[in-house]
Parts: sequence; structure tokens; C-alpha cells
Amino acid sequence: MDFNLTEEQLMIQQAARDFAETELLPGVIERDRDQKFPHDQVKKMVQMGFLGMMVDPKYGGAGMDAVSYVLAIEEIAKVDASAAVIMSVNNSLVCAGIEKFASEEQKQKYLVPLAQGDVLGAFALSEPEAGSDATSQKTTAEDKGDYYLLNGTKNWITNGGNATYYVVIAQTHPEKGHKGINAFIVEREWEGFDIGPKEEKLGIRGSDTHSLLFTDVKVPKENRIGEDGFGFRFAMAVLNGGRIGIASQALGIAAGAYERALAYAKVRKSFGTEIINHQAVAFKLADMHTSIMAARMLVYKAAAEKDEGKDISESGAMAKLFASQVAMDTTVEAVQIHGGYGYVKEYHVERMMRDAKITQIYEGTSEIQKIVISRSIAKR
Ligand code: CAA
Repeated sequence: MDFNLTEEQLMIQQAARDFAETELLPGVIERDRDQKFPHDQVKKMVQMGFLGMMVDPKYGGAGMDAVSYVLAIEEIAKVDASAAVIMSVNNSLVCAGIEKFASEEQKQKYLVPLAQGDVLGAFALSEPEAGSDATSQKTTAEDKGDYYLLNGTKNWITNGGNATYYVVIAQTHPEKGHKGINAFIVEREWEGFDIGPKEEKLGIRGSDTHSLLFTDVKVPKENRIGEDGFGFRFAMAVLNGGRIGIASQALGIAAGAYERALAYAKVRKSFGTEIINHQAVAFKLADMHTSIMAARMLVYKAAAEKDEGKDISESGAMAKLFASQVAMDTTVEAVQIHGGYGYVKEYHVERMMRDAKITQIYEGTSEIQKIVISRSIAKR
């Protein structure tokens, strides 16, 4: 594992940094306040190839490696964590799963527009009563011969209101437990598919989160991904990659808050000197810098292992577990360093603190990451 970034990776990092500063920073406070989806900014992200970053160019993607992907998400999340999750879900949870496991026909029909950014995708696993316990899916996909009849409700679906294609996980053979679960590509326009109201959230308010309601939706058989009963393993494999995306989002939030706290500490004066000269502040910054660097190592390592084709279930879980804790700790301390200014919207860090919390919850809570890591250790 070598962390000397290539020229191409450095260029992508710089392009993402410039994009975040010029296109995402203006209006980020207002989008958070109004829960406004960044439509115009997402269009520009499409032009930069950020919506299908790792997809093979033959399917309309940018064909970049996972290290480039995490570098880009980190830079975007430093400024706008909502834009980062929109990007992460489309890339990791939708495009990556379809590219790796779907049929050639499915790739031509769905992956090409998703990777080119003509449309957005969403991934629907969580349910009102099945979040962490993902095997207990209540949504059913009844086999009716040449189609499945989909019924049930999905909750907290990122990109839920703006997607065109949805990867939906549902139970076909309840008696078989997780081996009876399937994954399907479902189109927004199909009869019986309704989108619930937008959730009013604590953070990542620029991204849209909805419930999805399926009532007798006819899903053609050819829209099932993989063999019958592959859906749960499909979801787990997809989430292994997704967790790297969320880990890099968490890393970006932490780094963004740290950079703002450092800049503030160098100019804000108290007791006759810049506050960085007070050890109480300087030590906080030292801790923040150290833990962000440690998180970065875990995130880059997991991405590098993905590029090497290794199993990343453990390294991705470790990266997400650690980086999301660092995001939480760092943003809280960034607010503290800013004092009263940190508590108002203009200084950005209060938003970052709110945005950080979700990284410990979605795509597997921190407790789930510990299950994944501990089982992996136990197997060795
Ligand atoms: N990678 C690959 N395969 C895995 C896996 C992993 N990380 N974890 C489990 N599996 C496989 C197992 O090998 C097993 O397969 P076989 O039957 O072939 O042996 C199968 O899946 C079942 O595994 P378990 O017996 O371990 O299942 P479990 O019921 O004990 O649950 C779990 C395992 C790890 C807790 C899992 O349920 C889990 O990850 N839960 C969290 C779900 C999650 O992350 N939800 C987030 C929702 S998505 C989201 O947030 C989207 C968004 O919009 C941002």
C-alpha cells in the first residue's frame, strides 16, 4: 500500500476541491436551511464525471479508481456533506452493484444513464422495522411467473425523491430467511410506486430522504439482479463498498471543520493573543489533526484495497467506524473553538456538527460496523 498519490489522483483531488469552493460553498447555508436539493450543482458534478466515477467508460462512467473516488468525496464533503452523500449513493450503492452483479441487458438499460448522470439512483434496503437487522425484510416480492408483485414500505431512502431508478431489496421466500431475499431494479414511473413526503432532518438537509411505498407494483422478472435468493448477499456486498464512500464523507466533514477551526484560531484574539496560542485550544487542534490523519489512513487503505480487488468488508467497516467518530468529535470541538460564533449558521461548523451524526448511522450504524469487524477478526 502506497499513499504517494499519482498525478491523476492529485488532479482529481484538486478539481473536486476547486469545484467545492466555487460551486458548492455559495448557497450551502441556504440549502441546509431550506432543505433544498442542489439540482444545479449535481448537474455540474455530472459534467465532471462524479456521478459514475468508478464505472467502466464502456458503460458511460469515468473509469477512475476507488482512491480517486474517496479523494473527490472527501473534498466535496469538506464543504457540502449533502452533495457528498448524493454522489456516494449513486456511485457506491447503485452503479457499483449494477456494474458488478447485473446482466448485460440491465447494464445497458440502467447503468449507462445512471453512470452518465442522466438520471439519479437510490438504494432501498431499510424498512420501518428492518434497519440494522436487514435480514428481516417485510417488503415482499411475490413470484407471479413472468413478473414479481412488490408490496411494502422502505424508509430513509437517500435520493428517494429525485431518483429515477431504485435498487429495491425484498423478500420472495420468507421460509428461506436471508436466502429468500432478492434485489430488483424498479422504475419510478411504475404503477403502484409512491414516494412519501420528504423527511425533516437534523443534518445533510440538502440531500433528500423519503420513504417509498409499493402497492402491487409489477416488476418484470428480467429486473431481478442475479440468481433467485441472491438479494441479501448483493446488499451486503454493495454496502461493503458504500461504507468507504460514507467513511470518506465523514473524513471530509472532519477535515472541513478542522480547517475552519484552525483558521479561526489563528485570527481570533482573547487575553491579548490569538487563541491558537492558548494551550487549551492548541491541544484540541493537535488532537483533531492527529485523528483526522489516522482516519485518512484507514479510508485510503480501504480504497486502495478495493482497487487491489481485496475483500474490503473489514477495512471498509473500520474506516467508517473510525472516521465517523472522528467527524463527530472534530465537529463538536470545532464549534467549541469558535465559541458563540460556532453556534450560528454563518460560521458553518454547526452545520458540520449536525451533518456528522448521520455518518454514525446510515449504511450500517457504528454498532453494526463493530459486528462486521469482530466477526471478521473471529474468523481468522
Ligand atoms: N459482506 C459480504 N457478505 C456478507 C456480509 C458482508 N459484510 N455480511 C454478511 N454477509 C453474508 C454472509 O456471509 C451470509 O451469507 P451466506 O448465507 O451465503 O453465508 C449472509 O450475508 C447472512 O449473513 P449473517 O448471517 O451474518 O446475517 P445477520 O442477520 O447476522 O446480519 C449484518 C449481518 C452484518 C448485521 C447485516 O444485517 C448488516 O449489515 N446490517 C446493517 C444493514 C445496513 O447497513 N443498513 C443500511 C441501510 S442502506 C443506507 O443507509 C442507504 C442510504 O440511503 C444512505
